[in-house]
Amino acid sequence: MSLKLKIELRPRHKRLLGYIRESRGRLLLAMVCMIVVAGSTSATAFVVKPVLDDIFMKKNEQMLLLMPFVVVIIYVLRAAGMYGQEFLMHYVGESIIRQLRDNLYDRITELSLAFFHDKKTGVLMSRITNDVNIIKNMVSTAVTGALRDCFTIIGLIGVIFYRDWKLAIIAMIVLPFAFFPIYEFGRRIRRFSTRSQESMADLNSFLHETFAGNKIVKAFGMEPWEKNRFMEKNKRYFRYEVKTYRVKALSSPVMEILGGTGVALIIWYGGYGVINGQSTPGNFFSFMTAVMLLYGPVKKLTRLNNAIQRGMAAADRVFDILETESEVVEPENPAPIPDPPHRITFENVSFAYQPGEPVLRGINLEVYPGERLGIAGTSGGGKTSLVSLIPRFYDVTEGAVRLDGIDIRDLAVKDLRSRIAVVTQEPILFNDTIGSNIAYGSTDATQEQLLDAARAAYIYEFIQSLPKGLDTVIGELGNRLSGGEKQRMCIARALLKDAPILILDEATSALDAQAEQLVQKALENLMKGRTSFVIAHRLSTIIDADRIVVISGGKIVEEGRHESLLSAGGEYYKLYNRQFSGRSSENGRENGFPEQSKKQ
Ligand SMILES: Nc1ncnc2c1ncn2[C@@H]1O[C@H](COP(=O)(O)OP(=O)(O)O)[C@@H](O)[C@H]1O
Ligand SMILES: [Mg+2]
Repeated sequence: MSLKLKIELRPRHKRLLGYIRESRGRLLLAMVCMIVVAGSTSATAFVVKPVLDDIFMKKNEQMLLLMPFVVVIIYVLRAAGMYGQEFLMHYVGESIIRQLRDNLYDRITELSLAFFHDKKTGVLMSRITNDVNIIKNMVSTAVTGALRDCFTIIGLIGVIFYRDWKLAIIAMIVLPFAFFPIYEFGRRIRRFSTRSQESMADLNSFLHETFAGNKIVKAFGMEPWEKNRFMEKNKRYFRYEVKTYRVKALSSPVMEILGGTGVALIIWYGGYGVINGQSTPGNFFSFMTAVMLLYGPVKKLTRLNNAIQRGMAAADRVFDILETESEVVEPENPAPIPDPPHRITFENVSFAYQPGEPVLRGINLEVYPGERLGIAGTSGGGKTSLVSLIPRFYDVTEGAVRLDGIDIRDLAVKDLRSRIAVVTQEPILFNDTIGSNIAYGSTDATQEQLLDAARAAYIYEFIQSLPKGLDTVIGELGNRLSGGEKQRMCIARALLKDAPILILDEATSALDAQAEQLVQKALENLMKGRTSFVIAHRLSTIIDADRIVVISGGKIVEEGRHESLLSAGGEYYKLYNRQFSGRSSENGRENGFPEQSKKQ
């Protein structure tokens, strides 16, 4: 049999075995069940001889009474074994994937943001949902099925040799030729079905894209073009499927011809022995039954290699993640965090997402306790990157960020982040109630505090207008929430957290001019006494800032108060002019262009 089992046990596979080892009690029991199944299958073939020879040939009445009982007992044993094995193996398999999933989720949520940028969300999800299943399939179906099949094969071969060793040797030489095509056909089917799966995945993402973007498809009159593209992809899928079925349809008949020829040979030789009186009909049919029963387990064994290769590949993907170290490292002996308000210092900071491509260079900046720092600059200048360094979403490449003089890498990440509230550019809400979304991270807040935060963020009235109020689940609202409403909820969340350091990254970009004025007032309250970093989409947001830095090309190019920066006539002046002179219509968006989403 050309079974290419390439299993090299690397350390990570040993780790997988570690997961399996925890269930060894159940595994052992399952193994016993498998031996029972294998034994009773072989016994089925074995009893053919006494049934035929003693009952049918010799007409032995005692045997006539005995054999039906034996047969029933064999089948009951087999049934019990099958039940135990099936249940126990899936129990073990499911508990392994449960552990793997827990560990994966644990690991992934702890990893740094850089990790999430490198990997697509869909890919990460498929690790947790798909890959662990493939591993389970390998552990509980393939490997254990294989064990049972091996036991069965050993038992049946035992029967074959016991009944007629000469014929057995002949069969051992002839039969592999019949079994070889199973392997070969399987290989081809796999190749085509992989391609057809890929082509289905392609079709899926095409559907997702064109349905989600249907507005654009219609607006640009691209329906015929998309229909054509769909038909092309559909046709490709059709072709692979047809190829798969051509091989599938051929495999059984070919198998039967080959198997039939083999059986014919055995009949000829075995029958010769019976006629010559060297053997009995019972002996011969017992032999034949064992040979026939061999077919199933051998066929399954040929598929084993595939399942193991797939499982090992999935295990590799899963362990790749489990073994990833977070780039944001916890200090061994964290320094105690000082009391607020906090001073934040950037000391000669450089930062790069990709090595060799710095997006921030030589940043020196000291933000005093309670100071309100405005940050302005053209898009892509590095503003978001700069403030991302404060909660250690990323670590600096060079230099240091300090909180009250302590390098933030010497503080416990948890302590550091507990002092910072963030409102991001894209409002992020979870599919939970509005109440829980606002209380996210402040679970011990009272109802009263929650409502106060909602009021201060000017979202209270909106929430009151909903029939279920704070208990409204975000998902139920579907697309009804406007960008401004979402953003005000995020502001309420930041308000409730009541942290001494505040980061507002274009937090008012999704608001219209009127709502912005309201939120601006809320933010004024929020920023009082806190060290605040306010990235401004509209410069009107930071006119009152204590100080404004202008960031361009990863550097601080200007620094000062609004008036002095304006009169300096530099970068800020240009930004300001572009914004206010270009405003022809009052749609609340500068340049007349809506904010461009940076998501790809
Ligand atoms: N996750 C990331 N990986 C690689 N490059 C990034 C990432 N995020 C931002 N950048 C790049 O860093 C630069 C600064 O981006 P950003 O800090 O978002 O600018 P701003 O907030 O001023 O618009 C841009 O050139 C941007 O393309
Ligand atoms: Mg930004």
